[in-house]
Amino acid sequence: MSEFTKTSVFPEDFLWGGATAANQCEGAWDVDGKGLSVADCTTYRPNVDKKNYAALHGITDDQIRAAMESDDIHEYPKRHGIDFFHRYKEDIALFAEMGFKTLRVSIQWTRLFPTGTEEQPLQAGIDFYRDLFKTMKEAGIEPLVTLHHYEMPLYLANHYDGWGKREVIDFFVRYCEVCFREFGEYVKYWLTFNEIDSVFRHPWTTIGVCTDRYPADKCEELIYQCVHNQFVASALATKMLHEMVPGAQMGCMVTRTLTYPENCNPKNMLLAQKTNRDNYFYSDVQVLGEYPKHVLKYWERHGIHVEFGMGDEAILKQYSVDFVSFSYYMSMVDSIDADKREKVGGNLATGVKNPFLPISDWGWQVDPDGLTYALIDMDDRYHKPLFIVENGLGAYDKVEEDGSINDDYRIDYFREHIKAIGAAIEEGVDVRGYTPWGCIDLVSMSTCEMDKRYGFIYVDLDNEGNGTYARSKKKSFGWYKKVIASNGADLD
Ligand code: BG6
Repeated sequence: MSEFTKTSVFPEDFLWGGATAANQCEGAWDVDGKGLSVADCTTYRPNVDKKNYAALHGITDDQIRAAMESDDIHEYPKRHGIDFFHRYKEDIALFAEMGFKTLRVSIQWTRLFPTGTEEQPLQAGIDFYRDLFKTMKEAGIEPLVTLHHYEMPLYLANHYDGWGKREVIDFFVRYCEVCFREFGEYVKYWLTFNEIDSVFRHPWTTIGVCTDRYPADKCEELIYQCVHNQFVASALATKMLHEMVPGAQMGCMVTRTLTYPENCNPKNMLLAQKTNRDNYFYSDVQVLGEYPKHVLKYWERHGIHVEFGMGDEAILKQYSVDFVSFSYYMSMVDSIDADKREKVGGNLATGVKNPFLPISDWGWQVDPDGLTYALIDMDDRYHKPLFIVENGLGAYDKVEEDGSINDDYRIDYFREHIKAIGAAIEEGVDVRGYTPWGCIDLVSMSTCEMDKRYGFIYVDLDNEGNGTYARSKKKSFGWYKKVIASNGADLD
């Protein structure tokens, strides 16, 4: 037993918990007037190579039209999710049994504003989320709420070039105002845009841009315009939250795709530095309140024109976020010889294979030390509280004849990552919480499968949507409960 496992290095009020997203778990896609979201159009594609990200997750105009005309839920698994909409009380009881201090959930914009353009929200949507948050609070679980997790209204995506048109900022601000007014009494911790940096990796889910609809040479500019509009929307939401809900805090949320150079060749060092800087662009704007010079230079060199509204720069500067949250699943490697190297992927990104790291069943490189590195690096850069709001192992689970699920591989994964967080805390990094992704099995974002399971809680449902939706505890359930009870000291 190492020193770390005997004594907790985690702060007393450390927020242990788990993370979900509404579009991947709620289901009830057409209940109570809910409108279609971009997520409701993404399909399960059983015959596609899991490493071919474009084929797995790309979407065409024709596919969107087909989705709009279809009532099917099996081809579109995010429409049924895991039926969290009807089962949240049971699920929250299980999370409370594990000792969760917090639970990350998201609000579906379309449950409040079906097209995003309505003047008034749907009361049924408000009632649902109020009861969800109230139930969490009664169970002693602090809600951590994402306002925009790959769920923009399809209507806006279709009529406003995704986030390309300025009006979308106003629609979003109206939606936020309702959320803060109606849910502010229960929710203290908020996040604006989930993995805002994924705009180029999967624009449809992140900003509602179907690249198939635009000339190739216009897409890059449009994507930058969308992300600028999201930055402004995030700053305005932060301003409004502080005004409407005293004491509440807003975080940004990025994918930390830490990239190593393949070796000490200075050219590889420069390449990895560039990739890391590009990854930091999104949190830099939201935390430091201004565009990094390298991005402005890049636009200048490439003739990219992004429309700034009057006062945007001042808004970004004045209303930066209170804390920085991020997902961390893997690290990447860059090489000037990338073409000649074996590739791996993850989070819809690809890089060179790292010979020192194992990979998951889906080819994602497992790198706990990288989490320590990422935490220290972000602390050095931002000097803000950090929150790991996603981390986990997507794996095949086997249900034994007696119903047990012995997911020791998941326990090993979490043990090493929790040690890695502890190592950063011992270096003085201010880490506030840890919410493993998919704490209950849910539909995969990238592949729309159920087979790719992250949870401590198993859900009886297969890729085709067959199953009872019954919940059962995996071996990792008891293990994580012990971890939380010991505040991260007992990792055995
Ligand atoms: C993150 C997303 O990128 O990774 C989640 O915020 C997603 O929505 C998670 O589910 C894991 O990815 P996947 O594709 O395995 O579900």
